[in-house]
Amino acid sequence: MFDLERTFVAVKPDGVKRGLIGEVIRRFEEKGYKVIGLKMLKVTREQAQAHYGEHEGKPFYERLVKYIQSGPIVGMVLEGHQAIAGARHMMGKTDPLDADMGTIRADYALVKEYNIVHGSDSVESAEREINIYFRPEEICDNWSNMAELVIECLRANEQII
Ligand code: RTP
Ligand code: MG
Repeated sequence: MFDLERTFVAVKPDGVKRGLIGEVIRRFEEKGYKVIGLKMLKVTREQAQAHYGEHEGKPFYERLVKYIQSGPIVGMVLEGHQAIAGARHMMGKTDPLDADMGTIRADYALVKEYNIVHGSDSVESAEREINIYFRPEEICDNWSNMAELVIECLRANEQII
């Protein structure tokens, strides 16, 4: 069954510093996900705490909250069939040493603390995270693909009925 989902994906500060913004977006676009939201931003402490609230109290929490604010991130909303699990699959496991070769983290990251990308892990997290970083009017989901544009153009020129 077609299972249309939205997920929040981010190129984390280390990914931006490494010059991997384009590479990360390219992989998700080529996979077939539709980019319906995209922005570079400096994460505030409030956003960082809301985003990583589930990790509060863990030994790495403070470092994680600092790290996500240590430079700009590029946040995006991706839409597609089973986009949540699919995007996580492409990112690979948290620790790049455990991630399968060919995944973003295995290909580009050295340690789990700086693992290049973030991806929502459930429908609930995706909705929560999208709302932390995007206002509803910043989601652009009503654009048609090229095939639809070409058909419209041919119709207008009466080349097809
Ligand atoms: P993310 O939320 O960033 O997509 O990563 P994830 O689901 O694969 O991993 P999660 O358990 O949610 O951890 C969030 C981020 O915290 C950092 N981390 N550090 N030092 C540590 O033991 C440790 N464990 C996790 C990583 O940056 C991880 O992506
Ligand atoms: Mg997580």
